[in-house]
Amino acid sequence: MKSNHIRNGTKTSSFGSPGRINHDSASFYSSRLYEGLPKDKAVKYVENPIPSEFLNKIFCKSSENMEELSDNSVHLMITSPPYNVGKDYDENLSLNEYRAFLKKVWSEVNRVLVPGGRACINIANLGRKPYIPLHAFIFEDMFDLNFLMRGEIIWNKASSGSPSTAWGSWLSARNPTLRDIHEYILVFSKGTFKRGGPKRRNTISREEFLEFTKSVWTFSAESAKQVGHPAPFPVELPYRLIQLYTFEGEIVLDPFIGSGQTSIAAIKTKRNYVGYETNEEYVDLAKRRIKDFSLSFNTPRLFDFE
Ligand SMILES: C[S@@+](CC[C@H](N)C(=O)[O-])C[C@H]1O[C@@H](n2cnc3c(N)ncnc32)[C@H](O)[C@@H]1O
Repeated sequence: MKSNHIRNGTKTSSFGSPGRINHDSASFYSSRLYEGLPKDKAVKYVENPIPSEFLNKIFCKSSENMEELSDNSVHLMITSPPYNVGKDYDENLSLNEYRAFLKKVWSEVNRVLVPGGRACINIANLGRKPYIPLHAFIFEDMFDLNFLMRGEIIWNKASSGSPSTAWGSWLSARNPTLRDIHEYILVFSKGTFKRGGPKRRNTISREEFLEFTKSVWTFSAESAKQVGHPAPFPVELPYRLIQLYTFEGEIVLDPFIGSGQTSIAAIKTKRNYVGYETNEEYVDLAKRRIKDFSLSFNTPRLFDFE
């Protein structure tokens, strides 16, 4: 057998890659392109319990400090951070201050995730004059915290995407502007790619797996008016991530939980949740929505607030 055909597989070609089956990519991953980037480590799986009084709860406080959660206790983090763009919950931070604030939260996320636990950040880029690629800054800050990047999902908001008619210059090359109809979901792992831990049930179907592993997701945005929060994501977004990245009964964290959509997706998929939110009104809104959903879904054990 030739050395470039390991177990009848293929090797990364020096010009293009015709074969994808049983692909030997060792030389690609040891190339200098990967120098200085966080690497997969052989880490022992540790999973600490979260005290039951803190589980399936939303804490009305800043997620810069999540002391209620033990180290290595959460299996998945999903969030859409405040955008610092003047929504009623936003502060007017400089870009550097904003990044420093988010980085504190990502650092806490890193502490509480189990080894191999995933962190999924939904973010849209901002402005036009010039455009601010927030997602690029988040990559940098996550790399800095040693998170491993797993990929990015483009969420195509399709017909519910930008209703903006800010063309810049209509039918003219003078200054046409792009109208974003997408957002990103950036996916990272803590320390190692694979999840370990006790054997638990997968709940994803074959059809869902085929669809959710694609890097472009198409579904509509959520109506802020209907939910009663200025920037909710649809339940479909955390639902897909939970199905793809966790086993039944595991714990999902949203450090900026807003109207509680991540909790609803967790309940729907028989996972546990924990959330943080600084605005009392949104905490009440989330609790109301979680309670209504749990009762309709017949899972009262996943909330215990009146
Ligand atoms: C983009 S919204 C999240 C919306 C949420 N994904 C949903 O579907 O409803 C960001 C939320 O973060 C909250 N927030 C802002 N600063 C926070 C902080 N330091 N800690 C926790 N929550 C915070 C805001 O009040 C806001 O509700």
